[in-house]
Amino acid sequence: MDWGLKNRLAKIIKPHDRRGVMLAVDHGYFLGPTERLEVPRKTITPLLPHADSLMLTRGVLRTSVDANFPVPVVLRVSGGTSIIGKDLSNEKITTSIKDAIRVNASALAMSIFVGAPYEHESLVSLGNLVNEGEEYGIPVLAVTAVGKELEKRDARYLALSCRIAAEFGAHLVKTYYCENFEKVVNACPVPVIIAGGPKLATELDALQLTYNAIQAGASGVDMGRNIWQSEYPVAMIKAVKAIVHQNVKVKEAHEIFLKNKGGETPTKKEIKEKKPKKAKAKSA
Ligand code: R5P
Repeated sequence: MDWGLKNRLAKIIKPHDRRGVMLAVDHGYFLGPTERLEVPRKTITPLLPHADSLMLTRGVLRTSVDANFPVPVVLRVSGGTSIIGKDLSNEKITTSIKDAIRVNASALAMSIFVGAPYEHESLVSLGNLVNEGEEYGIPVLAVTAVGKELEKRDARYLALSCRIAAEFGAHLVKTYYCENFEKVVNACPVPVIIAGGPKLATELDALQLTYNAIQAGASGVDMGRNIWQSEYPVAMIKAVKAIVHQNVKVKEAHEIFLKNKGGETPTKKEIKEKKPKKAKAKSA
């Protein structure tokens, strides 16, 4: 591996433990103003000091992240579809390598859609992006996307997608956690990190998911909604980070979450939920 590529990858997957905590805030590229990511700067700023790297589009990077803050950037460079459009798999590369270099990206990220109508196009795009990345020493993160078909997330399908991504030269693969996740990791010769997926019922559930993935061999997380849709996002990222980098168990991670949530200002929604409801005036 070329020096530059190795050096950039080391900013994302830390060499001391070969793990990383990537904060995903790229959702708007096809979902628009996702809940709790309506004002990206507001969501991202408090989390920045705790993330090893930040995954986002150039639009949100330029408008909503302070260029003086030294967080490594994983730049999403694919898109072209929306949640209300016909087919989420019809993505193309939308950001040039020159612009990625201009914003000092440490990695390029794009989605592949194995088994979907535009499988072929997305895989050829991955091959081409790896060609460009290799030329300039920038690693490529392949995202094994499932579009709206969340039920696709089983070990057989995800192992197939991750392996294909690695065969095409991706340096890092992001996928979903599933039962028998070892099969996915073992069949993929490059590091695998997990997305959190839609917000789970509790923080404990998300910590359990993180722990299970790490135990099964994941190299970390590229997590979004289960962090910033929590009422206490900073406490949550700290707890996730403790599992990833300090190998803590779920109970301890949850204690870290509970301890740290004390220091965070509750959101308007939470204050509203906690307010005792006024007793209805009895009619005379
Ligand atoms: C989806 O394609 C986006 O790339 C997200 O970055 C990814 O799903 C990770 O975010 P979350 O943990 O919210 O699923």
